[in-house]
Amino acid sequence: MRWVTGVVLAGSVVAGALLLKPETVYTHTPITTSIVFQKEIARIFQRKCFQCHTDGNISMSLTTYKDARPWAVAIKEEILERRMPPWSAVNGYGHFANDMSLTAREVSLILAWADGGAPSGVLLADESKPPVFVPPLNGWEQGTPDAVVNVAKDQKVAAGSPDRTARFEVASGLDRSRWLRALQLNPGDRRGIRYAAIYEAASGRWLGTWTPSNPVNSLPAGVGIQLPAKARLAVEIGYRGTEEPVSGAAELGLYFSEKRPPQAAMPLEISAPPFTVAAGKTREKVRTETVLKTATTASALWPRLGAGAKSIEVTAIKPDGVVEPLLWLKNYRPDWPSSYVFREPVTLPAGTRVISTAYYDNVTDAALQARPALSVTAFPPSRPPATLAP
Ligand code: HEC
Repeated sequence: MRWVTGVVLAGSVVAGALLLKPETVYTHTPITTSIVFQKEIARIFQRKCFQCHTDGNISMSLTTYKDARPWAVAIKEEILERRMPPWSAVNGYGHFANDMSLTAREVSLILAWADGGAPSGVLLADESKPPVFVPPLNGWEQGTPDAVVNVAKDQKVAAGSPDRTARFEVASGLDRSRWLRALQLNPGDRRGIRYAAIYEAASGRWLGTWTPSNPVNSLPAGVGIQLPAKARLAVEIGYRGTEEPVSGAAELGLYFSEKRPPQAAMPLEISAPPFTVAAGKTREKVRTETVLKTATTASALWPRLGAGAKSIEVTAIKPDGVVEPLLWLKNYRPDWPSSYVFREPVTLPAGTRVISTAYYDNVTDAALQARPALSVTAFPPSRPPATLAP
C-alpha cells in the first residue's frame, strides 16, 4: 500500500502542524473482514469522534466513507498509540460521565476494519453521504440559556499557529444574585478552539470547563453555585491554529435555578506551592496532601498542571483507611485539558486525606516553574432523609 504514513505521523507530533490527507490508493486492497464503515464503524465514530471530526470542526471530517477511508491506516495508528480520542485518564481510577475513551470492543472493531481492507459495506450506498446522523456544530444543548454573555469578540487564530491561551474578563450582567446550575460555551467557529475554562473573576473559583466533547457543565441535581449580583466572569480559552485562519466570537450561556437549591457548592482548591524543575531534569515529583476539615462530596475535577507535566495521580485516604483512587492521568497531554465529571459524586468524610502526586519533565535549557493545581466541584453530603413517623 502506498500511504504517506510518515508525513502524516510527523504531523501529529508538531504543535499546530497541518494535517496532510494521505494518498488514496486502495482499489486493490483485499477485503478480509465483515466489519464495515456504513454500519459498525460509523456508529463508533458518531459516539467517539464526531465531536471533533466533522466539516467545519477542529479536525478533518470522518463522517463519510469518502472522508474516512484515506485515514484508515492513520486511525489504526492513533488508536493503538491511544492518542485518539484524546483522553488521558487511566481506566479504573475514578469513573467519569464524560469518559471519551474507546471500549475494548470498539477498539477491536476498528482494528478489524482497518486491517481487513477498511470496506464501505453497503452496495450502492452513496459513499459521499454520512450513513449516520451528524450532530450540528453549535447549539444550546439544554435549550435557551437564562443569560448569554459575549466572551471573545474578534478573536483571530492564524493558520498553523501554535497553542496559546487568552483570558477574557466579562460582566455577567446579573442584576441580582442567582444560583448557577449549568453552563455551556458556544465557541462560534470551533476550528481554532481547544477548550475554555470559566471562573468567577473575584474569587477565582472554577465554574466549569468546555471541551469539544464535553460542551455542557451541569451541577448534580439539587446543587447550585451562588453568583452575586454584577458578578464578573473570567474565561480562559485555549486556541490552536488549524488549516485555515479562524476569527469570530464565543458566547457563554448560563442556566439558573429558580429557587435556592438544597445544596450550595463550596469551593475546594488543592494546589502545591510553586516549585522549580531544573533544566534537563526528568521525573521530578511534586506531592500535595490536603486534609478535609468537613465532610465533602466531590462531583467534578479540573486539573491544571502546566508545562512539563507528565502525569498526576489523585487519591483519597478515608479516616477508616479505605483508599479511593479519584483520578490518574498518565501520558498527560497539556494540549487537551479536560475536566473529569464523576459518574456518581464521591463522598469523603471529614479527616479524609486527599493526596496528589504529579511528575514533571523539563527537557529545555531553562529552569521551569511548575505548580499543579486541582479545582474540585464540592458540596456538603446530603443530609440523611428525615425519619418518617410510623
Ligand atoms: C476532542 C476532539 C477529538 C476527538 C474526540 C477525536 N479527535 Fe482525532 N484529532 C483531533 C485533532 C484536533 C486532530 C489534529 C491533530 C491534533 O491537533 O492533535 C486529530 C487527528 C486525528 C487523526 C490524524 C492523525 C495524524 O496526524 O495522522 C486521526 C486519524 C484521528 N484524529 C482519528 C480519530 C478517531 C478515529 C477518533 C474517534 C475514535 C478521534 N480522532 C477523536 C481531535 C479529536
